[in-house]
Amino acid sequence: MLEADDPAKFALDAAHLPEVVDNGSRVLWPEPGGTRTLRVVQADGALADLGPIDVVLPILHGTHGEDGTIQGYFDTLEVPYAGGGVLDSAVCMDKHFMKVVLESAGIAVSPWVTIRRAAWTRDAAPLRAQIEALGLPVFVKPARAGSSVGVSKVDALDELDAALEIAFAEDEKVLVERGISGREIEVAILESADGVRASLPGEIVLTERGFYDFEGKYLGGDGVDVVCPAELSDSQIAAIQDVGIRAFEAVDGRGLARVDMFLADTGGLVVNELNTMPGFTPISMFPKCWVASGLSYGDLISELIEAGLRR
Ligand SMILES: Nc1ncnc2c1ncn2[C@@H]1O[C@H](COP(=O)(O)OP(=O)(O)O)[C@@H](O)[C@H]1O
Ligand SMILES: [Mg+2]
Repeated sequence: MLEADDPAKFALDAAHLPEVVDNGSRVLWPEPGGTRTLRVVQADGALADLGPIDVVLPILHGTHGEDGTIQGYFDTLEVPYAGGGVLDSAVCMDKHFMKVVLESAGIAVSPWVTIRRAAWTRDAAPLRAQIEALGLPVFVKPARAGSSVGVSKVDALDELDAALEIAFAEDEKVLVERGISGREIEVAILESADGVRASLPGEIVLTERGFYDFEGKYLGGDGVDVVCPAELSDSQIAAIQDVGIRAFEAVDGRGLARVDMFLADTGGLVVNELNTMPGFTPISMFPKCWVASGLSYGDLISELIEAGLRR
């Protein structure tokens, strides 16, 4: 792990995605049971003290960041941290296990088929039959990726193999899911001293984009609006908040999560996924939903830190 220098180097720019370049520094994490002092060895070999750690805010996406591994590392170091723990982070990083857990808790998820690359290569025919039974369109996605990387919408069966290849490039385990036609609703969950609360729900409004893809999420791509609060009736809001909290509890959620679901055209709520470390820029849905619910960005960060310290 490096000590970051100039934060401006990490700005999100569609033409130039930021890259972490090794500046030669190395962060030294504290030994368990000690003073929790964080130190850094700088490029020239000098050792600097960065002071004691009170609590870590691991605002990290993807492998090793939100999949429970860094959370386990902090547990081992006896360093308190905010947000999800080992189990909820690991379960929610793997879309297959996330759906298994939600389904067994009685929460509706989109019907799906999980495919291992080896099984697909060995004998695709029975898997193809299961996929065809889902109906069209289907969404093809890597089990463990995120940020819509490797996700494709398949409208015709002759597009299936290409979509699977795109997903297999990210993970050897891939999900094919029935496409749900409806509104894309997200609710922010926070664990505070007096229990688990749900925010007002927000909505991903797609105007000119087929689905909420990487470009629409991060690169300022047109055709998508992140709206909170979403236009919903009181009973819809209550049902969404109830599903959000139940989904959070089903995965043994800790600290926070964003629960993404579809309000299907047929009326029901279908949970798409939980994110144990949702996007956290001031324009991201998670903080936006809390601001709409009366909690400022600063107070939100304070609540997360306090929840981390309480453990
Ligand atoms: N079953 C589905 N039905 C309809 N749209 C879907 C479905 N699965 C995914 N999508 C669309 O694709 C986007 C990305 O898929 P998602 O499962 O959320 O992956 P990620 O973890 O990369 O965000 C969703 O935000 C949604 O727009
Ligand atoms: Mg998503």
